[in-house]
Amino acid sequence: MSSLVPIAYLASAVLFIVGLKMLSSAKTAARGNALAASGMAVAIVTTLLRQGIMSWELVLAGVVLGSAIGAFAALRVQMTSMPEMVALLNGSGGVASALVAGAELLGYADRAQEPTGVVSTAIVLSTLIGGITLTGSLIAFLKLSERMPGQPITYPGQQVVNALIGIGVLVLCFLVATAPLELGPFWILVGVALLLGVLLVIPIGGADMPVVISLLNSYSGLAACATGFVLNNVGLVISGSLVGASGIILTKIMCDAMNRSLMNVLFGAFGAVQEGGGAGAGGEQGTVRGYTADDAAVIFSNARSCIIVPGYGMAVAQAQHAVRELADLLEQKGITTRFAIHPVAGRMPGHMNVLLAEADVPYEKLVEMDHINSEFPETDVALVLGANDVVNPSARSDKGSPIYGMPILDVDRAQHVFVVKRSMNPGFAGVQNPLFFNENTMMIFGDAKGTVLALVDAVREY
Ligand code: TAP
Repeated sequence: MSSLVPIAYLASAVLFIVGLKMLSSAKTAARGNALAASGMAVAIVTTLLRQGIMSWELVLAGVVLGSAIGAFAALRVQMTSMPEMVALLNGSGGVASALVAGAELLGYADRAQEPTGVVSTAIVLSTLIGGITLTGSLIAFLKLSERMPGQPITYPGQQVVNALIGIGVLVLCFLVATAPLELGPFWILVGVALLLGVLLVIPIGGADMPVVISLLNSYSGLAACATGFVLNNVGLVISGSLVGASGIILTKIMCDAMNRSLMNVLFGAFGAVQEGGGAGAGGEQGTVRGYTADDAAVIFSNARSCIIVPGYGMAVAQAQHAVRELADLLEQKGITTRFAIHPVAGRMPGHMNVLLAEADVPYEKLVEMDHINSEFPETDVALVLGANDVVNPSARSDKGSPIYGMPILDVDRAQHVFVVKRSMNPGFAGVQNPLFFNENTMMIFGDAKGTVLALVDAVREY
């Protein structure tokens, strides 16, 4: 049996990797997910069949309780609250790894048996990273759910305090790794790791939490990987590394798409960028033209092509089903209709893809920014639906703008641009959008869902 264990873990690792690869395309994502889940099933069964596992009753109780809580939470959560749920899941992952590593250390202490250097180092890393992940994720959850003020919490000398704590942590890590059976420094390390998680995340603005969550997701993977070394469990080492690596890659992709550096995120210096002052903040920039759904129907009656650009407002309004109805209607009227997807439209990675998939919009209708941008000049109508920053032309031209350099969808180059939003309020970055004042832009003020339904009626009747 024991010789089968590494083979089974290898099989699950292959399933994880192939599954992850398949997640990179919408077409294969569902199958990839199923493949990775079956890899996890193989890993779990293998682990349970190994000798020395705790009593089956306890395992079963854990499975039942965990599944019940997970199912209840997943069924209740709104799509707009998904980042909050992911924050809690990351925190749970981090604390689970730290608890297992801590329990192993206490076991060694009970037996008065010195762990090897690799194991004691892994215990230190798991405790530290797991502790930071737990409290960091809880702060992220509180900020996202507005149970705590979203503004960055800063105080004089914050960076110095964090640096001093960082040095203290290094000393503690050294003490625990070299004399693991002395439990005093270990308990102090637990406390400091929990404190560090809080201190690292409080200076970051609530709206920036999705990037932090992606980073904490990576940390939870690293903590699991370290615990894999503690338990000498290859499956955990591999799955933890995969989560750690994919989390950091996702963080990098999000940072690039928001024109921020990873170092900026790691040292918690952003959030203040969101103030939106400076040249690019912009006040009034000309005349805004307000139109109705009926006006838009007239333009649509002469159009041959339309690109719909969804943003955070579509998620808030839960307008995805209405949008699908509109897209179908436009197609029936002979207007080629596609969706342009910006990598950070909305508030979490893949936010727009998930919503549109929920409304059964065919995958092939969704086109990534890099592929669709060259097509805007030949497009009759760009319909911007609750998107703002991701279509702000200042990002291309205004060096003073906080979003300068952020890649955007070039909707302003389309023949006609309809922008659906409720007011002239800015988006996430807090800056005004010159697109709204362009000659070829028609603002249709209102809630995204109600406006799209009105558009459906107007286009149908025209
Ligand atoms: P935003 O720039 O945040 O703009 C959303 C717009 O939707 C707002 O201007 C708002 O205007 C409008 N809106 C809100 N509720 C609405 C409703 N019910 N009906 C109609 N409109 C509504 O969104 P975006 O263009 O999707 O850009 C995303 C931003 O989030 C980027 O700055 C990005 O960097 C940031 N961000 C994204 C992520 C990820 S991973 N997606 C992570 C962190 C940060 P009104 O209030 O006037 O209606």
